[in-house]
Amino acid sequence: MESKARQLFTEVYGGQPAVYRAPGRVNLIGEHTDYNDGYVLPTPIDRHVYVAAQPRTDDRFRVYAADFQQRKEFTVGGTRPDSKRPWSNYVQGVVQVLREEGHSLKGADMAVTGDVPLGAGLSSSAALLIATLRALQGMNELELDPVEAAYLGRRAENEVVGVQCGIMDHFVACLGEHGRALFIDCRTNEHRLIDMQPSHRVVVVNTMVQRKLADSAYNERRAECMEAVSIISRNDPEVKALRDVFPETLVEHWGTLPAVIQRRARHVVTENKRVLDATGCLEAGDVEGLGDLMYDSHDSLRYDYEVSCDELDALVDATMDIDEVVGARMTGAGFGGCTVNLVEAGYVGEFTEKIKERYRRATDNQAEVYLA
Ligand code: GLA
Repeated sequence: MESKARQLFTEVYGGQPAVYRAPGRVNLIGEHTDYNDGYVLPTPIDRHVYVAAQPRTDDRFRVYAADFQQRKEFTVGGTRPDSKRPWSNYVQGVVQVLREEGHSLKGADMAVTGDVPLGAGLSSSAALLIATLRALQGMNELELDPVEAAYLGRRAENEVVGVQCGIMDHFVACLGEHGRALFIDCRTNEHRLIDMQPSHRVVVVNTMVQRKLADSAYNERRAECMEAVSIISRNDPEVKALRDVFPETLVEHWGTLPAVIQRRARHVVTENKRVLDATGCLEAGDVEGLGDLMYDSHDSLRYDYEVSCDELDALVDATMDIDEVVGARMTGAGFGGCTVNLVEAGYVGEFTEKIKERYRRATDNQAEVYLA
């Protein structure tokens, strides 16, 4: 892929670029917790967005996106949202936030390509933001702390692209390492890498569907979490986010919350605990324990947070009687996208065949399978 990116650049612009990249991600556990100041446990997948880039002597940016076969030009100080080329808003967003931070940037020629599936909940957007950021850092010799880089990526997505996401995707794109899970405390930014057990592989299964309501439902869930916090904090002013509520204390506030808000809060509060427990399991080499928590997480997302869908449920249900699969759940925002499965290393080939066949029978759709 890296040489493909270089070749693409040479075809479009000529010259010898440097190639920068950032990975997509899958989240092992900790869904819809990042924007509640909670905990997450993602890991990078072996698929990346690549940005081949060469600095220019003027302040122009010329960008070519292979996936869309589109070109975009703008100047360092002339970034503007482009609804005909939405992908370019990510590139422009990074340029804009770096400038707002006072960094002076040279113009550049860039060619973007990659193999992170788009719209599958595997964070191709964060990968594009962080690969672009790395290219700009490299060409302009900018020293950025990786956590700071992650927050700049999120800021570009929130403020310039206009998507209200949390920090998980950018954090793991900046600090993730292949074959290791990244525990992140999204309030304190405390983070640590944990080796995955070689006995099992993280296998991603793509439903190949993405519901249109995903964006509006995401914002609705965020608002419901804020409503829970605003009600609970009337009696308990220490509570600043759902991260500050524990399963035992939620019980005390239960009667003050409307029914839907009760379920949303219960998901976030129990999910945070599951992430801490899952991290403990991973550190102790207890793969089965981690797998059980993944199944519990899926149920909670399905029934309490209500962000799953028939296709995701079909994929998770299809693993239940396979002994070699220790855990499975939906991953990412939901309403389509992918499941994450923890599968015995020697069984991955057979699992791939079996899950595709079962999914086809259950939904008439063709699933795709990727390895983390
Ligand atoms: C999306 C967002 C993340 C996170 C997940 C849900 O992927 O980009 O910040 O909120 O949904 O866990």
